[in-house]
Amino acid sequence: MNEPASGRSRGTDEGQDQNRDHEIAHPVFAALYDLLPQSPLLGPHREYLARDLSGRVLEVGCGTGEQFRFAADGANGDLEYHAVEPDPYMRNRAVGKAREADLAVDLRDARAESLPYPDDAFDVVCSGVVFCTVQDPDAALEEVARVLSPGGEFRFLEHVRSDGWRAQGQALLTPIWARAAGGCHLDRNTVERFVSHDAFAVTDVERLELGVFPVTPIVRGTLRRRCEGGVTVPGLGSFG
Ligand SMILES: C[S@@+](CC[C@H](N)C(=O)[O-])C[C@H]1O[C@@H](n2cnc3c(N)ncnc32)[C@H](O)[C@@H]1O
Repeated sequence: MNEPASGRSRGTDEGQDQNRDHEIAHPVFAALYDLLPQSPLLGPHREYLARDLSGRVLEVGCGTGEQFRFAADGANGDLEYHAVEPDPYMRNRAVGKAREADLAVDLRDARAESLPYPDDAFDVVCSGVVFCTVQDPDAALEEVARVLSPGGEFRFLEHVRSDGWRAQGQALLTPIWARAAGGCHLDRNTVERFVSHDAFAVTDVERLELGVFPVTPIVRGTLRRRCEGGVTVPGLGSFG
């Protein structure tokens, strides 16, 4: 295993699933996933993840492959598309979606916390509503930083912890919610985790007027992998 891109320790924050090695298999959630009301609402933001895609691209936790048709439409030039998805029921559906989208996808059974690729392998990594679900979000982010080439982009679309009573409600609901929704946590501080990571510079972070409690707020954004030696891409975005 390669060293993480930064020297940060792993898995110390909230919302981490203590049992990282449990099987990930949710047949009912996989069957229902594409019928959920969020699907059409997320369309424009999936386009954001897929804009002008070229080079080597990795999607982490691709689920049923809902993002694939957007990737095919957003492709600009030579695109080599890779995806990982640990749930076999999701992955089976993703195979069909890749075919429908006419997108060649190198789809692997792997987890975001342990990506089966060398350092600096990708120009773009994207995640769509995945960091709510991964078992160890800190470890997953380290892996994203490791496999991205310097200057490469991490594009994300995630629902995150809210404020005040809504945050309290999310914390209360999460244990039940996670059982019904394939392990999804409502109350993760995903944006803070992302923007404070020293491997990344913030290009863009935007809170969307989208979603209803408890699956709100939804945030999309782009981080750029810093070059070695601390040289950074300017443009610190704001959140909120
Ligand atoms: C809410 S679904 C999102 C699916 C897809 N990204 C989308 O945009 O619709 C979350 C996905 O993360 C996957 N997942 C769960 N644990 C994971 C892990 N450790 N690494 C990568 N993906 C994981 C789940 O199997 C599920 O397919």
